[in-house]
Amino acid sequence: MTSPVRLALLGCGTVGSEVVRLLHEQSADLAARIGAPLEIAGIAVRRLGRARGGLPVDEALFTTDPLGLIKRDDVDVVVEVVGGIEPARGWLVEALRAGKSVVTANKALLAEDGAALHDAAAEGGADLYYEASVAGAIPLLRPLRDSLHGDRVNRVTGIVNGTTNFILSAMDATGAGFAEALEEATELGYAEADPTADVEGFDAAAKAAILASLAFHTRVTAADVHREGITEVTAADVASAKGMGCTIKLLCIAARGRDAAGKETVSVRVHPAMIPRSHPLASVGDAFNAVFVEAEAAGQLMFYGRGAGGAPTASAVLGDVVAVARNRLAGVRAPSESAYADLAVRPMGEALTRYHISLDVADRPGVLAAVAGVFARHDVSIATVRQGSADGPAGAGDAELVIVTHVARDAALAATVGELRGLDIVRSVASVLRVEGGA
Ligand code: NDP
Ligand code: HSE
Repeated sequence: MTSPVRLALLGCGTVGSEVVRLLHEQSADLAARIGAPLEIAGIAVRRLGRARGGLPVDEALFTTDPLGLIKRDDVDVVVEVVGGIEPARGWLVEALRAGKSVVTANKALLAEDGAALHDAAAEGGADLYYEASVAGAIPLLRPLRDSLHGDRVNRVTGIVNGTTNFILSAMDATGAGFAEALEEATELGYAEADPTADVEGFDAAAKAAILASLAFHTRVTAADVHREGITEVTAADVASAKGMGCTIKLLCIAARGRDAAGKETVSVRVHPAMIPRSHPLASVGDAFNAVFVEAEAAGQLMFYGRGAGGAPTASAVLGDVVAVARNRLAGVRAPSESAYADLAVRPMGEALTRYHISLDVADRPGVLAAVAGVFARHDVSIATVRQGSADGPAGAGDAELVIVTHVARDAALAATVGELRGLDIVRSVASVLRVEGGA
């Protein structure tokens, strides 16, 4: 057998320790698949001497000098599972420029500045693989990057954050409020001590940028993604969705469209939305992820599985390690980044969507007409109106109106809600949620 492919592992936490375990347990199979054994040249961590749960690895491999490890002549492949923008960006740029292949799970960095990594990979003639960065174990980026390259992807709709899916699924199943469901997610170890990146949609927005870049051959960054989290979703919203035969999910939606001049664009957004219970994404419960891809010739495709966790994420990392090791031995590199389409990213105001609006209004003649007039002024067509009973959530003398619109520009819908908020007859706008998926 040929000489080993030597790995520098940066990070040995939740994901890194599982990478080490799988490398050890599957070493013979991995060597047979690659045609050469994989060897760990070193493991960079923040703190030495930390108990690592009996990992099957020599203590002498650990270092607190990632850059020194990357620069070693006996390192062929750098596996980064540390996370964050800096210092990870500096390490990976250094490795790629030096011609060392990189496998990373770092969605934050790829979404913030994937261009720096792709440019460095092109400069050094090295491979850059990042399957684990979106939806953990689910093979998704490779299908977008390879299998669907003969087709034209029109839309990607996904549940790409496990923590928020767990919370929303719990709210749907038990009627719990957001705070209560978050507490449960924390107790069960799904939500982190600081759940901001998940519940405010930052994590999903990073993944949306990566998916959109691959699907539409265009560089999309996290800053291009419209982002709303789930902290404002209430038990009443969930109940209202149920009443419409819907459930609420935090969706990432990346879609082709056209601007006013007819030029092709993309829009990328992350926000909670109602989807019909019959939609394939509605049955994705617990902390699972799923991504629904619509392509011109392939039609509808659904990718489903575990989007987080040490072992599932390490599975995706190892798949990439095998791919780059094989390329190395064959003396080839994977095709470079495909960003030729360079489509403009459409602002959120131009996105086409539908709203579900719940209003507390004065219960007297002419109110419905006045409310309908606001929608008409903004060129928003109403699909359904339902008036709640007087003994419902609205106070005595008030009524609850639930209005669902037809598809309209998001800016027109937002302006409609803005004007409604200013009307005397509208006591409060209780909730505004987008509706997706043809409900
Ligand atoms: P952890 O926090 O569990 O592990 C991070 C590791 O990086 C630790 O071993 C830590 O060292 C090390 N580290 C941190 N800073 C430095 C530094 N400056 N120099 C050297 N080592 C450092 O993270 P995860 O394993 O959960 O996540 C790793 C990556 O994988 C992130 O990019 C994350 O977004 C991504 N990811 C994670 C998933 C998950 O389910 N956890 C799912 C999909 C992607 P020490 O051990 O000494 O603290
Ligand atoms: N915090 C993320 C989630 C981990 O909940 O999905 C996977 O990226």
